[in-house]
This record gives sequence, structure tokens and C-alpha cells, in this order.
Amino acid sequence: MSAMGDNIDNLTARVADSGITNGTVGQGEEAVDSTNADIVTPWTVQTSSAAGVDYTKLIRLFGSQPIEDDLLRKFEQVTGKSMPPLLRRKIFFSHRDLDQILNTYANGKPFYLYTGRGPSSDAMHLGHLIPFLFTKQLQEIFDVPLIIQLTDDEKFLWKDLTLEKANELAYENAKDIIAVGFDPEKTFIFSDLDFMAQEPSFYWNILRVQKSVTYSQAKGVFGFTESDHIGKVGFPAVQAVPSFCSTFPFIFGDRKDIPCLVPCGIDQDPYFRVTRDVAPKLGFRKPALLHSGFIPSLQGAQTKMSASDPNSSVYLTDTNKQIRDKINKYAFSGGQQTLEEHREKGGNCDVDVSYQYLRFFLDDDERLEQIKQDYSSGKMLTGELKKELITVLQKLVEDHKERRAAVTPETVKLFMTRRKLKFDYPAPAKTK
Ligand code: TRP
Repeated sequence: MSAMGDNIDNLTARVADSGITNGTVGQGEEAVDSTNADIVTPWTVQTSSAAGVDYTKLIRLFGSQPIEDDLLRKFEQVTGKSMPPLLRRKIFFSHRDLDQILNTYANGKPFYLYTGRGPSSDAMHLGHLIPFLFTKQLQEIFDVPLIIQLTDDEKFLWKDLTLEKANELAYENAKDIIAVGFDPEKTFIFSDLDFMAQEPSFYWNILRVQKSVTYSQAKGVFGFTESDHIGKVGFPAVQAVPSFCSTFPFIFGDRKDIPCLVPCGIDQDPYFRVTRDVAPKLGFRKPALLHSGFIPSLQGAQTKMSASDPNSSVYLTDTNKQIRDKINKYAFSGGQQTLEEHREKGGNCDVDVSYQYLRFFLDDDERLEQIKQDYSSGKMLTGELKKELITVLQKLVEDHKERRAAVTPETVKLFMTRRKLKFDYPAPAKTK
């Protein structure tokens, strides 16, 4: 099964095998299950189950590997450091070839990190922060270069945005990303629209990928239809090529063999299935991947946070009062109807949004476990649980705002300038 995992031609077949059918027209490769109706594509995430998307099923459908305890042990063994809480709690729950990246690192060989964001709105919310918080921890643990792609071109193609606006949003979002605290000597952030005019290797690699993927394959993976414009059909190559070190000769010189690890939401996997399929044909390394699940919206795990519904998320610009009011008013509760009933039966952490958010944002394992026990037993009430969360989120957002305010135009320019990164790597192995 795992050998098939990368064969994009097989995907449709496996979708049929697992009883999962192609859903809404034009929505891309739909992970739609007829009983649960989970939909997971780069464009839509939806499920009818209160406990959220069925991740075990997604792993089977996408052909990736679950994060298992052995691998986590290896992570700590190889790095000599404790792993990020989001990995320990298996919020990053699936991967491709993480074990190979750990071997690379253990052998003193270089690799780099690549992640990205589609800049579709000014207002970033907590969910947008997660891959970046996680990636920052990985950068600290491994001390490797990081490349962050801002796909302003993608948002121009998919949304009702002008090129000017999409490009402007890329620079606005870059400030929030920088505020997460990446190392300026080891991090390159770029807008697709601008980088295209600066680095010939970018477009050269895009062309190589485009020539290697047929329309029929792209249609199978992304669900393009006859009425989709051709801009969409060509785009996946743009998100693919930062996975190849030869796209960045000013960082990696003329090497073609430095592997990359991509932390991303599982909804981005279709892009990287295609990337991994074409990589060997082009003489490039396949990117390794680490997939996260979704942070639920305030209303519950049926949908993820959405930038377009202000009451579904906590924004990085919310005031303390807004955060308090939103959590108190909207955060779906797993508690019981009456005090007596709650004391007797306890709350349900699996569907309780406040508890779920604490899993994402409260680093203290012991405290989290205590809350879980107290809430499940009925000792802790919903109001008390929400109060814990409000304190954690207010601090997180306040700290973020402070760091963002300190990001100057010069800092943005520094991160977004095509330049050499601080990166010592051993000489390439002699080839035959
Ligand atoms: N397509 C992603 C989005 O819409 C942005 C993105 C580009 C990305 N490259 C990536 C995400 C690499 C994760 C990893 O948000």
C-alpha cells in the first residue's frame, strides 16, 4: 500500500476502492465518504461528525503514514531534544518519509524546511499560525534553512482579488509570519509574483514540472473541470518547485540533492503527491512531509476556522475583550446542560472546542492532563475551562501583536530579499 502511496495515477482507483466518491464538481479531489461526508481538498474542509475529520481514513485515502510512537522516539533520539508539543500530541498526525529526514540529519547531512501560505486576507487567525509556530520549533531543533512561499499568484487565480491586492496581502502576511520569530539569517520568504521576476531557476523548474504532469493526472488529483481556467491547471507546479533545492541556487549553489521537509495542513497533500511523483523523473529528491489536522472553528469540529466568518475564529488582531467574548459566546461546549448533570456526568473533551484549543496552544502537558481529567469528571465547569483558554489566548495574541508591531519595513525587506542564507553543509558525496 505504501509503495502505491506516491503513484498519483492510482489515486482515483483507491478512492473508488475505499468507497469514497468524487464530490462537488470543481472542488478538487474530494475525500468524500458517503456515510460521514468528510471533504478535504486544498479548497474545502468539511465533515458532519462533531469529533471532526476522520484522520485515520484520510491517511488511508491519501496513502501517507501515521505518526507512530517509534518514529517519535527516533525523533528525540536523533535530535537529542524534546519534540514540539504539536508533534507529541499528534496534531501533526501523518507524514511521508520523515524517517528518511531523521536519517539524513543523524548522518550529518543537510536538509531544509519549506512551507507556505496563500495570502487571501489581511486578518490572519489562530489556525493560520499553527504551521508557522510548528515550523519555527523545527527550525530551532534542526538549525536548518527555511523557505516560505507566499502564493499571491494562487490567490489571484482562485479568489476575486486583483494582482495588486494579492501581492499587497503577501507583504502584510509576511509581517505576521516574521513575528512568529524565525531566524533572519536562515529564513527566506518570497512572493511568487515577485520571485518569478528575480530567479530564472524558479520558472525553469516550474516548466520542467508542467511538462511532466498530464492534464488527466492533474484532473484526477485536483478535480479540474472543463470550465476551470487554465491558470489553475498550471499552478500546482508553482507550489511544487520550492521542494527542489535547485530552485534556490543563491542558497544551495549547484546542488540538486538536498532534501526538503514540508510541514503543512493535510489539505495541501495533493500538491505534494504530484511533486513526489515527478521528482525522480526530473532527477530531484522527493520532498518529505509532515501533515497537520485542522483546528476546529469556534462552532465545532465540523469545519475549520475560516478567515471569512469573523465569529468562527480568533484573529491575531482581536482585543482581549473580543477574545473573551468570542470564547464565552461561541466556543462549542462539550459540557452538560445543567450544573447537576455536569457534576454527575462530566464534559466531553473530544467535542469541546475550548479543550481542543488548549491542546493546540497550552504547552504544559501536566496542566493539560489535569484539565482533561477535571473536565471529564465534572469537577471543572465549562466556564472554568473557558477561562483557562481565554487566559492562554489573550497572552498569545498580545505577545504576537507586540512582536508584529516591532516588524519594520526593513525587516520585511531583509527576510524577502533573494540572498544567501547561513548554511554550512558538507561537500556533496562524489558521484561515480
Ligand atoms: N497553497 C497554500 C495555501 O493556500 C500555500 C502554500 C504554498 C503552502 N506552498 C506551501 C502551504 C507549502 C504549505 C506548504 O495556504
